[in-house]
Amino acid sequence: MVRQLVRDWQTTKAMDGFAKAEVKSRLIALSLNVIMRMIAGKRFCGEEEEQAGFSEEARRYWKLVEEAAPAIGVSNLADFLPVLRWVDYKGFSKKLARFHKERDELMQRLIDEHRSKSKEERVEKKSMMGVLLSLQETDPGYYTDEVIKALGTGLLGAGVGTTSETTEWMMSLLLNNPEALKKTRDEIDARVGNERLLEESDLSNLPYLQCVITETLRIYPTTPLLLPHEASQECSVGGFHIPRGTMLLVNAYAIHRDPKVWEEPTKFLPERFEGGKGEGKLMIPFGMGRRRCPGEALAMRVVGLVLGTLIQCFEWEGIGKEEVDMTTEGSGLTLGKAIPLEAMYRPRQSMLDTLKKL
Ligand code: HEM
Repeated sequence: MVRQLVRDWQTTKAMDGFAKAEVKSRLIALSLNVIMRMIAGKRFCGEEEEQAGFSEEARRYWKLVEEAAPAIGVSNLADFLPVLRWVDYKGFSKKLARFHKERDELMQRLIDEHRSKSKEERVEKKSMMGVLLSLQETDPGYYTDEVIKALGTGLLGAGVGTTSETTEWMMSLLLNNPEALKKTRDEIDARVGNERLLEESDLSNLPYLQCVITETLRIYPTTPLLLPHEASQECSVGGFHIPRGTMLLVNAYAIHRDPKVWEEPTKFLPERFEGGKGEGKLMIPFGMGRRRCPGEALAMRVVGLVLGTLIQCFEWEGIGKEEVDMTTEGSGLTLGKAIPLEAMYRPRQSMLDTLKKL
């Protein structure tokens, strides 16, 4: 992504040396690549493709995700009034069936591609699909194509939007809070320098960057109602009687903005977490308990590495004098920015030598 930003900057920069970047789609392309490399051992969006790095297949897939998102996040009246199923209320069933079919076909193509590879090739490019297909050879009854496709779609569905949206909120918050942006950059300059790119191993040595991530996840948890849970047994929650089979939604968004717990809850203040100050306050951006997000460690590394590298390499500014819009949220199960983030950027003078070597 850094290479691509430099290349695009060279061709589109204006007199003041700044160029405009559509940040959202670049972050989606990057997150798609990270997850796809884990699942299938290959990039989804190629280097050479223009338009923020989207390949045709990735573009088709993402368009589908965006179309299906509103149908996934809303309450479907037909779940409560089954008679509405006859009329396919708001066309949800049709939309979701098409989404499922195309996503299933994509996963099947990936499985078939893997099957056609030699054993050596599969071992060399170790991926989740490769491992599962080897297991299929020893236990075909359990590791069916259906199971492999379900695991792949689960990770793609759960890992891409959440990661890119968190990074987009973080960038937006920093653009509106130049002091926090400067503090993050100063920390990177002091602890990483400018002779090499920031690496994953630097993250534990960048406490302020960690505070920025935590504060972003507090104000904008990208899965604000976690995932719907269901009471497997009759129980009581907060004094309410919950019959078995009831859907239970946890409002992490409200918990994170509770004025009884957080001072000025809507204010972006990474300092509130400095020196372990936030400890003991309930934060559940990744849920909790047995069904807590299994991608948390990966997500924290990816967002830290991406945000840290973007700040290390480039100067960033908002477009015009207006602040980045922080109030218009998209619809769906995850909390995305409805207005895609765009920003002005140029390579930092002190990083030019390092960027030339990429
Ligand atoms: C900033 C990024 C992310 C956030 C905020 C996030 C948040 C969440 C939340 C709130 C849940 C539901 C937990 C519950 O219901 O109690 C969840 C579940 C899940 N997440 Fe994440 N997630 C992120 C990234 C990822 C990544 C990168 C992956 C995979 C590569 C992933 C895979 C999953 C899966 C598979 C589940 C379902 C777990 C289950 O039902 O047992 N997530 N995530």
